[in-house]
Amino acid sequence: MAWQQLRVQVRSDQIEPLEQLLLDYGGLSISYLDAEDQPVFQSVPGSTPLWDLVDLVCLFEKEKNLDGLLFLLQQHPAIEDKESLTLETLEDQAWERSWMSDFKAMQFGERLWVCPSWQEPPEPSAVNLMLDPGLAFGSGSHATTSMCLQWLEKNIRNDNTVIDYGCGSGILAIAAALLGATRVIAVDNDPQAITATIENAKRNNIRKGVIETYLPDQLPDDRAALRSDILIANILAEPLMQLAEDLSHLVKPKGHIALSGLLAEQADELLEHYGSWFEMDEAVLSEEWARLSGIRLN
Ligand SMILES: C[S@@+](CC[C@H](N)C(=O)[O-])C[C@H]1O[C@@H](n2cnc3c(N)ncnc32)[C@H](O)[C@@H]1O
Repeated sequence: MAWQQLRVQVRSDQIEPLEQLLLDYGGLSISYLDAEDQPVFQSVPGSTPLWDLVDLVCLFEKEKNLDGLLFLLQQHPAIEDKESLTLETLEDQAWERSWMSDFKAMQFGERLWVCPSWQEPPEPSAVNLMLDPGLAFGSGSHATTSMCLQWLEKNIRNDNTVIDYGCGSGILAIAAALLGATRVIAVDNDPQAITATIENAKRNNIRKGVIETYLPDQLPDDRAALRSDILIANILAEPLMQLAEDLSHLVKPKGHIALSGLLAEQADELLEHYGSWFEMDEAVLSEEWARLSGIRLN
């Protein structure tokens, strides 16, 4: 089976009328893609902030005559760049799993590998984390996750207790458990992330009870009982600022904190803020992202 794929660039405030036109002409599905590689951040779960300029991609049945639609789009005032309008034939494939072919085994530090759960690990004697990210963030390929995995591999000690705040797929929580942590508390405000973390922990045969999962408001009130040797949080700069005091109370005196998910230009502000509770190291940068780390003062 094949499809016709129409693609056109449009400003995000002009999407609605164009989308309706595509649907009126028999559009079967519409995707929004970033037209300019502009980062946008989901600060509120369930919200869908858009890029300023969006590539609208619409699928039609192969037999559908689209001459009338193409004519209308060529005149449409919402389409500033008429050359962005393209139509191509697309062969069918197992779309829901097509990303799998891009997800390859990756090494972090000396011991740790993250491997797709459907492949044999390339280094069977390494610490192999078998992962299917599902709908949650965290496959290891993003610079922020990668920097956190490298930090964990280097700094975690046997029998450490760890908090992974913003666990996504559970990648950091599971890496911590595989690298010797005896108790890992994984927190996320997205229920899908909690589900993914539990599934991935089972996939890695993590002993029952080692990883506990919580939505933030389900965390036990007794913060002292939760206090850990390491807290790692790969979330955005804004929640990291807002949560700073709470997170600092979750780290034991002389315990470690590692933070990522912030842009390089946001590092100084966060370093200063976390400096109230931690002796902070210099920021480590990768692509446009930063990782911060520090030791709890007392
Ligand atoms: C960038 S992902 C990181 C996932 C994984 N830990 C990794 O390193 O790849 C950030 C995760 O933090 C969660 N998150 C964002 N803000 C949060 C908040 N205020 N409280 C708890 N979780 C939050 C998101 O739902 C998302 O799963």
